Amino acid sequence: MENIRNFSIIAHIDHGKSTLADRMLQLTKVVSDNNLREQTLDTLDIERERGITVKSQTAALPYTAKNGKEYLLNLVDTPGHVDFSYEVSRALASCEAAVLLVDASQGVEAQTVANLYLAMENDLEIVPVINKVDLPSADIDGVLEQIENELGLPAEEVILASGKTGIGIEDILEAIVERVPHPEGNEEEKVSALIFDATYDPYRGAVIHTRMFNGVLKPGDKIKFMFSGETYDIEEVGYFRIQREKRDSLKAGEVGYIIAGIKRVSDIKNGDTITLNSNPCEGPLSGFREVKPVVFSSFYPIASDDYEDLSQAMERLQLNDASLIYEKDTSSALGSGFRCGFLGLLHLEIIQQRLEREFNQSIIVTAPSVRYRFQMSDGSTVYIDNPVEYPDSTFIKQSEELYIRANIVLPAEYLGPIIKLCMERRGIQQNMNYIDKKRVELIFEIPLGEVMFDFYDQLKSMSRGYASFDYEILDYRDSDLVKVDILVSGERVDALSIIVHRSRSESRGRHMCERLKDTIPKQMFKVPIQAAISGKIIARETISAMRKDVLAKCYGGDVSRKRKLLEKQKKGKKRMKMVGNVEIPQEAFLAVLKTK
Ligand code: GTP
Repeated sequence: MENIRNFSIIAHIDHGKSTLADRMLQLTKVVSDNNLREQTLDTLDIERERGITVKSQTAALPYTAKNGKEYLLNLVDTPGHVDFSYEVSRALASCEAAVLLVDASQGVEAQTVANLYLAMENDLEIVPVINKVDLPSADIDGVLEQIENELGLPAEEVILASGKTGIGIEDILEAIVERVPHPEGNEEEKVSALIFDATYDPYRGAVIHTRMFNGVLKPGDKIKFMFSGETYDIEEVGYFRIQREKRDSLKAGEVGYIIAGIKRVSDIKNGDTITLNSNPCEGPLSGFREVKPVVFSSFYPIASDDYEDLSQAMERLQLNDASLIYEKDTSSALGSGFRCGFLGLLHLEIIQQRLEREFNQSIIVTAPSVRYRFQMSDGSTVYIDNPVEYPDSTFIKQSEELYIRANIVLPAEYLGPIIKLCMERRGIQQNMNYIDKKRVELIFEIPLGEVMFDFYDQLKSMSRGYASFDYEILDYRDSDLVKVDILVSGERVDALSIIVHRSRSESRGRHMCERLKDTIPKQMFKVPIQAAISGKIIARETISAMRKDVLAKCYGGDVSRKRKLLEKQKKGKKRMKMVGNVEIPQEAFLAVLKTK
């Protein structure tokens, strides 16, 4: 155990975590130089494309230190985005240290601070690193100052590195060996092991990623999950070396995997404690909580007869994403589909893309909603995340919405417009402090529902991409909510209804009508689009009728052009949904969210 070190790399998105991890794999010869794919640790296609680490992966790095001793460095990869902060926190709980990366040209950003807090909550040793020092725009002195002033970490501990050129990688590994304590734990004690992640193997079922705190586990042992109470027989244990590497046992202090004939990843709860069924430990390891979705949306197949297909795809997707929850949902406008819960907007987007790419599904995604709480006049409390289920307003005593604590880091020159943006979103300013002469940290309390509507995009565009954003969920607070319905050709499209604060209802209603007017193609007849609260019209737009047949443009002459045009129309149609007698294109359902 003296020769084991368990660590994570934490950073703001794009500060170079995956690149650095790859370098470590290379230096410790876990992967050879020529078969190192870029960003080995990111497995899913979408992650590769977006460059965001979504699903943690772990690798055991054998390392011979300068003191001549052999070490096993367990690198626990963590997702970088705020949507996955609970996963980050569990991964960190399995480590003794965190390598904190700060981009030499970007400096400290919102998720640098948020991730550092998570690491400190888990009592980790922090190894601060300024990364990308090879960049011409690197401002090492400035970033050192930020690390000292804003993060409170001593400048002399900071290591300068570049995942691109390889500078400083060995220094980081040395620092992990020298500065980080080896894991504590006792092989003789009763088994307690933390589940910090799980992945899905189509042949073996769920693969548990675990950190052993006490005791020893080996194949044949009957294990028990302390929270869920389920028991399973271990089939295999081992280490991660990119591929799984089978071992005879997993011992106190080690990080590795367990396969135990578990069918679905959703049968495993991140943060749960594993123990032996016959000789259980006294209590679970601390910090367990059930992940609750915060963003909800419905998925419908574009063609109603694809429902069974979509249903199968959802089931298979859930096998390897335990945080996706869904149930059957029916809309009078869109037919049968699924109501789904997500950890955040990014999670929603990833699930949508995976359904489309990996499972070939054509789906309509309805406007995401948060969960609202209503105190009813009969004394009951109801939670609503689907505007369709909005309660009869005469029986609502008090409506409430969820607030977040937003942490925004931005260059001081954009302060004015961004404070204004937060105020427009009904934010309440809590704090403002200067990280250095040029950069400011803003703390706002804002309703989560307001952040859903392209807040992040606006923040980025107002600050030319420089502002960064992170948030944590606070609590439910009193609000004045209404439901806005959208009528297309006089028919209510239930999937377009939204719940919104009264002060914002008119502008949102008007905006949605304008958006729909832009995205719904002209039909053979005039199409009125209206927004209404409890039947009262608050906004209206009209799509004028199509003047001519599209084909008339081709003058009957060019046959191939005509065919192309027809094909194009047919393709376009696949992404349309008939609502009443009007065709609504797929993008209309999300277009209503964009404010500009
Ligand atoms: P997430 O997975 O999204 O959190 O990103 P990440 O932090 O893993 O960053 P990633 O390794 O994907 O790098 C982000 C970008 O920075 C990529 O375009 C890299 O090529 C680039 N990059 C990473 N490390 C360095 C470096 O040391 N120097 C330079 N110049 N560029 C780097």
